[in-house]
Amino acid sequence: MQMEEQPLLAALQSYLDLPLERIRTFEPGHYTSGEFYDLEVEHIWKKQWINVGHVSEVRKPGDYFSIDLIGEPMMIVRGKDMQIRALSTVCRHRYMLVAMDKESGNKNSFRCPYHHWTYATDGKLVSATYMEGHEEFDASKVCLPQFRIEIWNDLIWVNLDDAAEPLAPRLSALNDLFSVYSCGDDWDMTNLYDKVWPGNWKNFTENNMEGYHHMGLHKNTLETYSPTRNTANVTYGEWWTRYQVLYDMDLEPARDLIAQSNWQPGDMHQDEPCLDILMVHPGNAFVIYPGGAGFYALWPTAVDEVRYRAGSVRPGDMERFDPDGEAYDSFRALDEDGESMPHIARGVQSSRAAAGYLTWMEEPILRWMQWISRRILEGETAKQ
Ligand code: FES
Ligand SMILES: [Fe+2]
Repeated sequence: MQMEEQPLLAALQSYLDLPLERIRTFEPGHYTSGEFYDLEVEHIWKKQWINVGHVSEVRKPGDYFSIDLIGEPMMIVRGKDMQIRALSTVCRHRYMLVAMDKESGNKNSFRCPYHHWTYATDGKLVSATYMEGHEEFDASKVCLPQFRIEIWNDLIWVNLDDAAEPLAPRLSALNDLFSVYSCGDDWDMTNLYDKVWPGNWKNFTENNMEGYHHMGLHKNTLETYSPTRNTANVTYGEWWTRYQVLYDMDLEPARDLIAQSNWQPGDMHQDEPCLDILMVHPGNAFVIYPGGAGFYALWPTAVDEVRYRAGSVRPGDMERFDPDGEAYDSFRALDEDGESMPHIARGVQSSRAAAGYLTWMEEPILRWMQWISRRILEGETAKQ
């Protein structure tokens, strides 16, 4: 790290024991510095489990979707053997991609567009022409490389670190709750959302960690049924945070949503209807609500750009929400967040920007800042 970036690293120390009564954001430079971002990639993004989707996207053999995850082009594919793999899409011939970013569909095999080397759904090379005469080439030994993958409650997670500890034990306290995501074939995933937004990933993640902004950014959507004032029940563990925003049943949109979802007390592990918002560090977000459950996969593509890939699972026979009722469109709320991020990205770059004080409602942000600070400080210490 350059000399001028050392203060950013030193500042992390101050978050480790920061009490809730003195909670404040990261420094502007933590969101804008390319060198600091490189440390985040090295110590966090290349080491942690990243939720990239849900198994309902790859139900049948040959189903796949492709993503670019922290510089690694890959596809999530269900093989003919029903195994789900995270295969590198980099052709073993001359580096072309056998599936482009954001592709999805169903294929019997993956043929490289460059010279037509063809790979099976498990990544093995099945054909390559004109290779006779090469002394070292052995088709049976050529395969698209794999990344670590774990399916936890039907959510698909990838880790770029081959030596990473398994995910499930870290989240055992949440296992029952997350069983709503492994809902079987009669649940559908609807409304896949996949966008790239300008902004630093931490500003996006912070946004997912509080209901304080419902009354602002979401005054016409979320605030009409799960208002800021109903933020409650902040809890956290080493790897996650959780908070709820209770529905206000005095509000008509809240009553409509409950009626449309056929929710009964106890469904979705809720005695009182609410948005139950779970964050798994570094930036994996999940919202469980009456009648459905959403995943909000997020990872940086650069210091100032974020990939946001979200979807929700709902009972297949559930009546779709009123298409005219914008207030009920959860992806409208995602766009409300996304559209505000470029402005925040400009704000943190100002010479007058400074770390701000936070509310008690933003406690999940504090727990996550402490987790990030620990990861980076320990990672840097281990290098010395
Ligand atoms: S690069 Fe894929 S076949 Fe040549
Ligand atoms: Fe939001």
